[in-house]
Amino acid sequence: MYLREALRWCRDLEEEAGHIYEELAAQHGHDAELSRHWQVLAADERKHARIMAAALAAEDVHEDDGPFVVDVRPRLDRLKRILDRAYKQVRTGTSAAAAAELTAFIEGTELDDVFAELVELSRPSVLRLLGVIEKDAAGVADPHRSHVAALLRTAAERRSDAAQQSARRA
Ligand SMILES: [Fe+2]
Repeated sequence: MYLREALRWCRDLEEEAGHIYEELAAQHGHDAELSRHWQVLAADERKHARIMAAALAAEDVHEDDGPFVVDVRPRLDRLKRILDRAYKQVRTGTSAAAAAELTAFIEGTELDDVFAELVELSRPSVLRLLGVIEKDAAGVADPHRSHVAALLRTAAERRSDAAQQSARRA
């Protein structure tokens, strides 16, 4: 599996974890303190999803396939099955105790490890993206500045031509 595909999967898994926690926050909304904990967890997972999306965008700027990650597909597959099952369980309604247990179970999976590994694998692409942006910005700015200078030179020539002509006429 290429890194960009792994990033896409992991982004979706983080989003799914976020949805599970949002659902739990809503189900236990009558207990404001408990519900708040799930809202915070949901926000954490949404942030993880956005980080995966940003790494994916960095990977997508480059035209090559990017790195191939050997062992990640079965791990993502397993995580997907676990989260799908958890989501189904949550949809049927859970007691606070069962929901807390489920949360501990989700947090005990290797989702965080996979996330951290993919962030590390994306590092070269993110740094390379910065190089591309800087080079492009410099490449755009330099010719543009010289075009402005050329225009101002020509305008100055016109002004001095006009001044000479009016001096001759006087
Ligand atoms: Fe996460």
